[in-house]
Amino acid sequence: MKRIRKAIFPVAGLGTRFLPATKAMPKEMLPVVDRPVIQHVVDEAREAGIEHFIFVTGRNKSVIEDHFDRQVELEDTLRERGKTLEIDLLERDLPGPGATSFTRQQSPLGLGHAVWCARELVGREPFALLLPDVLVQHNPGCLAQMIEAYGALKPPANVVAVEEVPPERIHMYGVVGVGKTSGKTFAITEMVEKPKREAAPSNLIITGRYLLQPEILDILADQQTGSGGEIQLTDALIRLAKTQPIHGLKFSGRSFDCGSKVGFLAANVAYALARADIAPAFRAEVKHLLDES
Ligand code: G1P
Repeated sequence: MKRIRKAIFPVAGLGTRFLPATKAMPKEMLPVVDRPVIQHVVDEAREAGIEHFIFVTGRNKSVIEDHFDRQVELEDTLRERGKTLEIDLLERDLPGPGATSFTRQQSPLGLGHAVWCARELVGREPFALLLPDVLVQHNPGCLAQMIEAYGALKPPANVVAVEEVPPERIHMYGVVGVGKTSGKTFAITEMVEKPKREAAPSNLIITGRYLLQPEILDILADQQTGSGGEIQLTDALIRLAKTQPIHGLKFSGRSFDCGSKVGFLAANVAYALARADIAPAFRAEVKHLLDES
């Protein structure tokens, strides 16, 4: 099985749900504790062994590119002030030279179109796709679990991370139909993007982590618009499923939909409570607030 070396991060979304916070700042740069959401997602990819990070950006997103570069003046100032801990922190997060690529989705035509915009950077090899709206809190990370499961599958294989959601949330996601289980994965029999609750094939939604074969890029080239008038990745996956198997993996861990205010706030609470340096004080504050409310 060909190793997965590259990951795509579609970061062109407008972030309208977080206005005015996202008027001048990309939603992917909102912090969960002290790391931007996109940094958490890149961390997950890096820990899973990804070597090349491909960002599909849009207008007003150049700060994401700056975030994954050196900040020479800042580093100089930190050095002058003897702030070695902070310098080490920045150094640790920095992708290696040449390990990032940035391309632009010129119009907001949908997730499928964003992925297709990265085709030249991906080339003809399998790749990971991580939607930065979703954080999964677990060690090993969601992508690492997927890559492990992928290693046990017969090539060519595609893997989609799935999770159960309550019925009232189903219409917000892509939903899969469940076939035969083998090992840690199961065969996905059908997929529907944002179905009505009654029309959903199950309560298992697509979480926003994918391992895909390059043939999906050929399919996306002529994919017509679907749900919401956008070019949907799910629709292209339905076509891919005619020639290649698509497997579902129910991953371990808790996911946070950081594209919603409540999900984003919950992620902040969960990640803060998992941090030894701030958890005791933060827990006390939260308890206080809850007792008073
Ligand atoms: C996208 C996918 C959907 C998936 C979701 C996960 O939808 O199209 O299948 O369930 O991400 O967050 P979006 O949230 O971009 O509308």
